[in-house]
Amino acid sequence: MRNETLHLNRMMEACKRPASVLAIASGKGGVGKTNIAANLAICLAASGKKVVLFDADMSLGNLDVIMNFTSKYNISHVLNGQRSIEEVIHVGPDGLEIICGASGIEGLAELGEFQRRRLISELTKLQDQNDAIIIDTAAGISKSVVGFCLAADHTLVVTTPEATAITDAYAMIKVLAGHSFAGRISLLVNMAESIATGRKIHQQIASVARRFLNAEVDCAGVIVWDERLRRSVRMRKPVVLAYPNSRATCSIVALAAKLSKGMAVRADNEGFLRKIVNWFF
Ligand SMILES: Nc1ncnc2c1ncn2[C@@H]1O[C@H](COP(=O)(O)OP(=O)(O)OP(=O)(O)O)[C@@H](O)[C@H]1O
Ligand SMILES: [Mg+2]
Repeated sequence: MRNETLHLNRMMEACKRPASVLAIASGKGGVGKTNIAANLAICLAASGKKVVLFDADMSLGNLDVIMNFTSKYNISHVLNGQRSIEEVIHVGPDGLEIICGASGIEGLAELGEFQRRRLISELTKLQDQNDAIIIDTAAGISKSVVGFCLAADHTLVVTTPEATAITDAYAMIKVLAGHSFAGRISLLVNMAESIATGRKIHQQIASVARRFLNAEVDCAGVIVWDERLRRSVRMRKPVVLAYPNSRATCSIVALAAKLSKGMAVRADNEGFLRKIVNWFF
């Protein structure tokens, strides 16, 4: 019996694939990336997936604010050898693992070869041991943000119906297409007055991207404007937990279900962290 179990374990290990990496980006700031990342990660963890949420917003990262925890350590402590990756993980609801980025990744360029290798191997463990890694990026199209998006299997671009947000979301899609991004691009319209308005915005962006960039932009969904989401931020409790019956929660649950069905790892994704590190050199 023990032999059979061992055999089964080995078979399961062989079938195991690395975590699918989802980067959440926007162009314009304040469109809801951090709230979407946090709530989506909570939903996926609640569905039994092993999820890591990585705060890659080096300047204004506020995952800890939204999720109401204080993090003593971040990725920079792994970089300088003070802590192991396990020690900088904050465990959230349903075993969701959260890692704060701080200014660590920006400092990659100054690392020696030994430290870089150590970092890659530490972080590769995360990819091997989890089902999904969700990266909350900073606003804009800085080198660091673009690096995370290009290394991901899937980049979720968030916009609102505001004209400036739409223009900036398109600029982000253009940068990804310009770098021949091999992963999937999806658009999520947040703070829409209705699902129909949100869908229309997706159609417009997708058709311009198809025509001028030769890029396919999938529709990730629409999240309507919801006062309860604002209230949940003030309460420092993610909306899916604070208001499980709100319209925002319904949309986020639908998004999580859709993403978890289509969670794929790029055929060329030999290690997303290796790609990130290479991007900085
Ligand atoms: N669907 C929504 N309905 C109403 N308000 C929303 C919605 N989504 C987000 N917000 C509001 O927008 C604010 C900004 O959200 P969030 O911090 O998630 O944006 P962000 O894109 O991560 O910002 P930054 O670019 O600064 O990182 C939230 O504090 C919340 O009040
Ligand atoms: Mg944010």
